[in-house]
Amino acid sequence: MKALVTTSLDPLTLELRSVPDPRPHPDEALIEVHATALNRADILLAIRRPVGSPLGLDVVGTVLSPAADGSGPPAGTRVTGLAANNAWAELAAVRTDRLAAVPDSVTDTDAATLPVAGLTALYALQKAGWLLGKHTLVTGASGGVGRMAVQLAHAGGSKVTAWVGSEARGTGLAEFGAKVVAGYEEPPTTPADILVDSVGGEVFTTGYKLLRRGGMATVFGNTVRAELRLPADWGHARPGVRIEYLFLLDEITRRDVPADLALLLALVTSGKLVAELGLLTPWTDPQPAIAALHSRSVNGKVVLSM
Ligand SMILES: NC(=O)c1ccc[n+]([C@@H]2O[C@H](COP(=O)([O-])OP(=O)(O)OC[C@H]3O[C@@H](n4cnc5c(N)ncnc54)[C@H](OP(=O)(O)O)[C@@H]3O)[C@@H](O)[C@H]2O)c1
Repeated sequence: MKALVTTSLDPLTLELRSVPDPRPHPDEALIEVHATALNRADILLAIRRPVGSPLGLDVVGTVLSPAADGSGPPAGTRVTGLAANNAWAELAAVRTDRLAAVPDSVTDTDAATLPVAGLTALYALQKAGWLLGKHTLVTGASGGVGRMAVQLAHAGGSKVTAWVGSEARGTGLAEFGAKVVAGYEEPPTTPADILVDSVGGEVFTTGYKLLRRGGMATVFGNTVRAELRLPADWGHARPGVRIEYLFLLDEITRRDVPADLALLLALVTSGKLVAELGLLTPWTDPQPAIAALHSRSVNGKVVLSM
């Protein structure tokens, strides 16, 4: 089969290569891949992995062979899920406890936007607890995870401030019920109960200072790769505050991923969650998509179709 792999040319340059077909473990289904999404995490992985490594976390496709242990969906089921860095390929072996059936009402491209971005946003908010009546500040709200977090926080009954780099990057977020704060020079000022941060650095510190007593900061990224600083009165000024880091690939070991994917798919079906497609491109030509994500020139998710 064909798969996209890392090359020695440049960590962000991928190559379509013939590789051996996957040989699924007993708890894995063999999927014929229809679509996959591109995440900033994939780019970070591409930079770190050895030459010739496969990539790809988000997977949508049809089950060709169900898992040998009898778990998971039967042959012919259209599924979405989390692959183990092997989704950018014609075929992928995927653990059945990372898969959910896709309803007819959800397209392949919409389903491809959900696993990494949707589950990260969902778990970040679930860690914060009760959302109804709370105020949530989402940083990096223009990004793949951020746009999902804004919508899910709003759907959960929270007021939402979406902090983005510019007016243009925040396009569409007000329609999801968020108050949009654009620009890093003029930060938000409204106190928050929940901070969902992935930008890191000064943005994290500013967001943290806005937390009320008993507030919660869920951090799942440090996109700017800068030290995180807490103010001197970090706890005294806001007793009961909690800070938790979410690592999706660790978090899923304690979660019912098929049920959580089914929840996201149901929210898409009901219109409460919009799977925003920023760019759809054939997987045989991934470079423009990688460049667009890297340079923040696309609003919404980048999806590769097979
Ligand atoms: N821990 C986990 O398991 C986990 C899971 C998923 C993602 N992540 C991490 O979370 C972060 C967000 O992921 P994502 O997929 O939503 O990424 P994304 O779509 O690229 O969004 C990142 C957002 O960060 C903002 N940003 C601010 N400063 C930036 C800078 N110097 N460079 C790039 N972006 C900057 C951008 O907003 P503006 O353009 O509006 O400034 C951008 O929309 C990434 O760091 C990713 O690696 C971690």
